[in-house]
Amino acid sequence: MTEPPIRRGLARNTANYGDRDFALYLRRSFAKSMGYSQAMLDRPVVGIVDTGSDYNNCHRTVPDLVEAVKRGVLAAGGLPLAFPTVSLCEPSLFPTSMHYRNLAALDTEAMLKAQPMDAAVLIGGCDKTVPAQLMGAASADVPAVQLVTGPMLATPFQGERLSACTDCRRYWAAYRAGKVSEDRIHEIEGRLATTAGTCGVMGTASTMACLAETLGMVPLGHGSIPAVHADRLRAAEEAGALAVRLIGNSVRPSQVITPHAIENALRVLLALGGSTNALIHLTAIAGRVGVRVDLRRLNELSDSTPVLVDLKPTGEGYMEDFHAAGGMPALLWELRDLLHHDPIDVTGVTLGERLAEPAFVDRRYIRARSEPVSPVGGLVALFGSLAPRGAILKRSAATQSLFEKEARAVVFDGLEDLANRIDDPGLDVTADDILVLKNAGPLTPAGMPEAGYLPIPSSLARAGVKDMVRMSDCRMSGTAFGTIVLHITPEAAGGGPLGLVESGDRIRLSVAHRSLDLLVPAEDLARRRAAWSPPQKPQRGWDRLVADQVLQADEGCDLAMLRAGG
Ligand code: FES
Ligand code: MG
Repeated sequence: MTEPPIRRGLARNTANYGDRDFALYLRRSFAKSMGYSQAMLDRPVVGIVDTGSDYNNCHRTVPDLVEAVKRGVLAAGGLPLAFPTVSLCEPSLFPTSMHYRNLAALDTEAMLKAQPMDAAVLIGGCDKTVPAQLMGAASADVPAVQLVTGPMLATPFQGERLSACTDCRRYWAAYRAGKVSEDRIHEIEGRLATTAGTCGVMGTASTMACLAETLGMVPLGHGSIPAVHADRLRAAEEAGALAVRLIGNSVRPSQVITPHAIENALRVLLALGGSTNALIHLTAIAGRVGVRVDLRRLNELSDSTPVLVDLKPTGEGYMEDFHAAGGMPALLWELRDLLHHDPIDVTGVTLGERLAEPAFVDRRYIRARSEPVSPVGGLVALFGSLAPRGAILKRSAATQSLFEKEARAVVFDGLEDLANRIDDPGLDVTADDILVLKNAGPLTPAGMPEAGYLPIPSSLARAGVKDMVRMSDCRMSGTAFGTIVLHITPEAAGGGPLGLVESGDRIRLSVAHRSLDLLVPAEDLARRRAAWSPPQKPQRGWDRLVADQVLQADEGCDLAMLRAGG
């Protein structure tokens, strides 16, 4: 049998049951039922991943973006075909959006591969949607450009500015401490997020947009354009035109997401003081192209990468300030001697070429190397008997006086236990203790939620305690702050030592030594381990697939079968 000619446009990926031409004939006749002219159907196809959803506030502008992308595709000579995939919005999903990131990635990968398209535009914004699309695109390896929805604007309100969701946490903590009234907290509720777009601080969505820009999957300068700015629509139009230009230029996501590009993204994550979640997502994206993110390498990079961006939750500004201050072109320029210059973006242009000239910079939000926000990076990995495969601390959002600490553990067995007891006036806890939450990792039904920001017990909050050492095998919102050790690996439900910790045990945290140790004699631990049994797996569906397949945090919490090489 002779090989079919290389097909493009609607002819791509036609089924072959012995008469390929008939399959294409059928496809065309059904496409014609949608009213396209033959001339349109002869064009190359740009698939547009549409993650608009009434459940997803961060994606409220997606219908407008799809229209603008289509305009760009049509003007450049392509046929734009938008299609829906799973849309993930942080506050809308139970048990947590993280539980569904891999589902969105799988959906994206499958549809990019199954449907006829020569290139794709990936429209996404919220925390999990951006990494899911990058994971899916890396695996499908279709030429693709990503268009993020962009951040919301902060709301001027009675002399301050508010935005989701660092200010949500700040006000809620004050409310728990009895410093903000019931009426006031309800009034604030309607002022925290008042425009379309993703959270307005350097949370996970913003961090991922900046990393996608660093990787070269989002055009440089486009990641931080506010959602409601006219430039966002122009960026969409440009993304559509760019996708058409990608056709025939053979750059694939797997050539963009390389070891050097990943290391650049890690540097940028550190310089942003970015979200801890981004580390898991970047690890998962890297895993799709066979690259391993090493947490010990993260520590080396962290020691030589200053935090330069002064945004909440660690600093002062909001994403609109970062964008106006020069955004990623300015930050990458500032970091240029620390970055690899060879990685190419989706158009095949190297980072070195993209950084040919200095960019405008406003030093209020993007500092000079000589005057950093912090001389070292925002994140560190900790290792030790409590975290043999690592744990993460966002030191840029933590209290330095708590960095070296040996103290008593106050342990919660899971989320329900935490909810039941944290505010119990009889809880035996002092500000000097370490709060430990276990059984909230990726293997649990909780699905590794952003529960690592354990509330300060209300008795202590009311007494003025603002921070305590807290640790768990789950995650923390990118918009949160505190001395919080996350992603303890292996997790409790996976047989990690965290599962053996009991209230009253001593734990030693040393940020200086990058260590986290459980100070319990080996024989006691052996006895506890003999009595331990793994949790029961869910019986069916997605939950069962996750329980069978999900990897630990140090491997990006991807499904094992979805990594490069399975
Ligand atoms: Fe979507 Fe924050 S909830 S970006
Ligand atoms: Mg978030």
